[in-house]
Amino acid sequence: MVKPDGVQRGLTGEIIQRFEKRGYKMVGCKMVWPSKELLEKHYADLSGQPFFAGLIAFMATGPVVAMVWEGKEIIKMGRMMLGATNPQESAPGTLRGDYSIDVTRNIIHGSDGVDIAKKEIGLWFKPEEMFDYKSCLKEMVYE
Ligand code: GTP
Ligand code: MG
Repeated sequence: MVKPDGVQRGLTGEIIQRFEKRGYKMVGCKMVWPSKELLEKHYADLSGQPFFAGLIAFMATGPVVAMVWEGKEIIKMGRMMLGATNPQESAPGTLRGDYSIDVTRNIIHGSDGVDIAKKEIGLWFKPEEMFDYKSCLKEMVYE
């Protein structure tokens, strides 16, 4: 998910391109201005953290771009492409390492496990907003 800072800074296209160019398949994508209720569900596991209220407040300041990407090891590889949570520890070449400095405004969120991804997809997408379609990636990216 491109966070409000990523959207407002015009980084959505670059973020999508990184995943597309790597060879991942976009199967869902939409702009949403999330309610605090939705964000509280999305970040429920962090509700005990001191930064929780600030994170929710920031995430509700504007639209985000929610996306679903598919492909081999997408969660592990996707999180590598995002870089460390704190941009001051994210390697150059990662999205956060190239485009952010402070931790709340780290431009992008990524699901950190298959079960979490399923939960998050259910929160953000209706079944009809996801697409199962044929692409050339199966032949041209994978061995
Ligand atoms: P996400 O892909 O955003 O979920 O990042 P993550 O899985 O690497 O981190 P985590 O789920 O622990 O935290 C979610 C978000 O909360 C992060 O992306 C940060 O924006 C924010 N966050 C995490 N840790 C801190 C912290 O120590 N301080 C502050 N201010 N924000 C934090
Ligand atoms: Mg997380």
